[in-house]
Amino acid sequence: MMRRPQSCEEGEAAASQHKNPDRTSKLPSERVVLLVLGSLLAAALIIIFRLSTHFVQTKKNLQNLTEENEVLRRKLAVFEDGPSCENSWVRFEGTCYYFSTNQFSWEESRSRCREAGADLVKVDSREEQYFLRSHLNGKMNSFNDMFWIGLTDSVEEGRWFWVDGSELSESLWFWSKQEPDNWTEENPAGEDCVRMGMEEGGGPMNNWYDKNCGAAQKRICEKNSERREK
Ligand SMILES: *[C@@H]1O[C@H](CO)[C@@H](O)[C@H](O)[C@H]1NC(C)=O
Ligand SMILES: *[C@@H]1O[C@H](CO)[C@@H](O)[C@H](O)[C@H]1NC(C)=O
Repeated sequence: MMRRPQSCEEGEAAASQHKNPDRTSKLPSERVVLLVLGSLLAAALIIIFRLSTHFVQTKKNLQNLTEENEVLRRKLAVFEDGPSCENSWVRFEGTCYYFSTNQFSWEESRSRCREAGADLVKVDSREEQYFLRSHLNGKMNSFNDMFWIGLTDSVEEGRWFWVDGSELSESLWFWSKQEPDNWTEENPAGEDCVRMGMEEGGGPMNNWYDKNCGAAQKRICEKNSERREK
């Protein structure tokens, strides 16, 4: 015999059992807990992700700094082992300079530079001129207290040559105002040698003056730097 289908009342009763008030009130609180846990987990994941990328970046930066440090140390080592100048000589870009305050004629000054393995200074760049003029500060007692440099027109009047035989380049002229003037009042032979001194108009680095070569002046010698012996 077939089982009689459930009555309408029976079906409704079963349905209403699912709508039990106890169970429906539990459901939202579970959802809330899950939601909270879920968001905490998400937040934790985000924090962990941020921290790890931050850590990776920091590690990279640290690596970079270590590498840079190594490069600098190597450069410094080259500098320390590299060419240097003897005592009382001043170094500028691989060259050594000596500012002597003893006064002699241009020829005698040149000989003294050569005895020291150097020569009277030749100005090869604006930077070098700037370096030299900076070092003259405090070494001159009066306007005529100047330093011979390796420039002269004694080989050919009116043409200025450096001691290495090269002609003075117009792009590196640092004549003071109205120089060279070949002033004959002091010496009728005129002025064939060049000295460096105080600036007197004509530009911030223009401190060259011609002078008769026999006058006693201080001097600037220049020579290549040498490897320091250890
Ligand atoms: C490392 O340093 C160099 C220059 O010093 C820079 O160009 C480069 O971006 C740096 N790399 C990192 C990962 O910071
Ligand atoms: C400088 O003066 C001397 C003496 O008067 C003269 O012989 C010489 O030619 C002059 N030099 C220049 C460049 O004018």
